[in-house]
Amino acid sequence: MSDELSTQAADLAGKAGEALRGASSEAELSAAKSHYLGKSGEITALLKAIPGLAPDQRRTAGRAINEAKKSVEALFVERRTAIADAALSASGPNPVDPSLPARSPWQGHVHVITQAWDDICDIFSSMGYSIEEGPEVETDWHCFEALNIPQGHPAREMQDTFYVDDGIVLRTHTSPVQVRTMLRKAPPLRVICPGVVYRRDNDLTHTPMFHQVEGLLVDDRVTMADLKGTLAEFARAFFGPKTKVRFRASYFPFTEPSAEVDVSCPFCTKAKGCRVCKDTGWLEILGSGMVDPEVFKALGRPEYDPNVVQGFAFGMGIDRLAMLRHGIGDLRLLFENDVRLLEQF
Ligand code: DAH
Repeated sequence: MSDELSTQAADLAGKAGEALRGASSEAELSAAKSHYLGKSGEITALLKAIPGLAPDQRRTAGRAINEAKKSVEALFVERRTAIADAALSASGPNPVDPSLPARSPWQGHVHVITQAWDDICDIFSSMGYSIEEGPEVETDWHCFEALNIPQGHPAREMQDTFYVDDGIVLRTHTSPVQVRTMLRKAPPLRVICPGVVYRRDNDLTHTPMFHQVEGLLVDDRVTMADLKGTLAEFARAFFGPKTKVRFRASYFPFTEPSAEVDVSCPFCTKAKGCRVCKDTGWLEILGSGMVDPEVFKALGRPEYDPNVVQGFAFGMGIDRLAMLRHGIGDLRLLFENDVRLLEQF
């Protein structure tokens, strides 16, 4: 009896193979499969007969029938793939072109202010300056007193200060980092100090928080000519090689003499006539001067004897430099983070 079932199983496997190979569509293939392996399929019927065998014959018959079943299943999978492939190539050119480049992912940008910050640091680093940072919450002494701006000095009103506590302010400029650096390090000194500063101010050209970079050089034979050469070199590196600089006498409590520095407008091809420079041909970019002896004296360090050392200092707005470089008209745009603006740079 078991021999008989085994032979039948092998027979049916052969016939099923022919039927599967002969099927030319998925529907024909499925029909052929269920004819042998479905609920009332021919091979299924053999499986159902096993329990009727004598116990010692069940094993041999079971093995033969299961083998037949497995071979039909394997052939079914193979044929289904082949039929699907054939259908795909018959449908003409592949609608998916795997050789096309992938859609590029949305790219982030370095913010315009960060770009300017980095460029400024790079330019001064290449001139041998090192970078110093200081706290944003600052003492009145570092922010004003040590910079020759005593209580009641009118210059305090030039900078609308946020007071945190008695004698504690949000720094209104990066100049206090000059003081902190000189308290820590002996001359000669060549540093720039980029950072965030705060003032009570808010309009087209002012935001309560903005960025400045301070520069300080101290040595034993420093002149205004060194300052001029350094800033001219910076302006050419930042705005382009044709940039000219112009010094105008000015006043700052911590420098004497003091100068404001303008650069020739990078947007005017002729001498005059544009929105960015308001037809003047010049853009004001920074304040500067020779370190006032009072600033050296306030440090109380013999190494900074104003009879021995001199220095120059300068301070500029990073945001303003970024705006001028790109011709952005409203400073507040830089802090709104509208991607339509950010994407452009
Ligand atoms: N601290 C000044 C300000 O915020 C900028 C400045 C002017 C810095 C002249 C300097 C300087 O070091 O010499 O307006």
